[in-house]
Amino acid sequence: MTPLDTGPLSTRTQLLQEDDLRRGLREDVLAGLRATPKRLAPKWLYDAAGSELFDAITALPEYYPTEAERAALRLAADEIAERSGARTVMELGSGSSDKTRTILDALRPHRYIAFDVSESALDGAAAGLRRRYPGMRVDCVVGDFDQHLAFLPEGADRMLVFLGGTIGNYPPEPRAKLLSAMSATLQPGETLLLGTDLVKDPRRLVRAYDDSAGVTAAFNRNILTILNRELRADFDLDGFEHVALWDTDNEWIEMRLRARRAQHVRVAELDLDVDFAEGEEMHTEVSCKFRREKVEQELDGAGLDLIGWWTDPAEDFGLSLSRKR
Ligand code: SAH
Ligand code: TRP
Repeated sequence: MTPLDTGPLSTRTQLLQEDDLRRGLREDVLAGLRATPKRLAPKWLYDAAGSELFDAITALPEYYPTEAERAALRLAADEIAERSGARTVMELGSGSSDKTRTILDALRPHRYIAFDVSESALDGAAAGLRRRYPGMRVDCVVGDFDQHLAFLPEGADRMLVFLGGTIGNYPPEPRAKLLSAMSATLQPGETLLLGTDLVKDPRRLVRAYDDSAGVTAAFNRNILTILNRELRADFDLDGFEHVALWDTDNEWIEMRLRARRAQHVRVAELDLDVDFAEGEEMHTEVSCKFRREKVEQELDGAGLDLIGWWTDPAEDFGLSLSRKR
């Protein structure tokens, strides 16, 4: 398939069906609720409501990463365009694709592929992009980047884009695997644009993940709503409080849901009964914070050479461009 021949055609590929999602959710939840400590995987936070809550997070005064990354992208866009020379942009976890416009404006690629697990986020993003870039081919892929990277279209001069600090939601080992899998999709010379949030004053970090309006708390607790709906569980949402803490050794923010009192939960679809002690904490997500050297080292480990590094003026957020060896 040669993207240039097809003109401004737009497609939508569904690699994940409702059934796959539910099966994945079932397996994850079964393992996670039986583990000690209990855990729930963050992938499931993004149903339609979750995607909307995330967008609300990005508008919070305390959540600095979105505006910091946007500022870095603005400063770097021309150099990214020049050094990557990309004609196809493939974005993983693209969400609203809002900040991506900075890159598209500078690069004017022939083709943009938005890849996300959230169908509703993709649909919203695609309509806006098609209006704004009438000559560009826009393809949407509903998929899971833990499973479906091999389905990305082949081609030359492609740039893979992974923004929002989403790579930080992977602890080191799975992160090394994901970076290697992303690298494996690229041909030598092709590039990866990666956004990473940087280590900073822990008080600012904690506030970004525990805002005063309680939006992040609602986002974190949304996973319980999803379990209640999809797996016929009976979690009492008021029974759990959102916890965000800074882990100095690992340099990550850890998100948990803490049981306010002892409680019993039934997950009917899994025929599973779970007990929570008062104060028991269930792990939901980490958000790792980086330093430039660490990013460079991890990219190198995945066969990618750093060819550009930018931050916003306050040095809150880092952007790296790397090239497949
Ligand atoms: N890039 C956007 C959104 C970041 S939020 C920004 O910077 O604002 C993370 C996004 O990744 C969400 O849109 C979520 O739906 C998506 N996502 C999370 N896990 C995923 C997975 N395993 N596969 C595909 N998309 C995923
Ligand atoms: N990639 C985002 C981040 O780490 C995701 C995120 C923001 C998030 N706030 C959250 C995930 C709260 C779970 C809970 O910054």
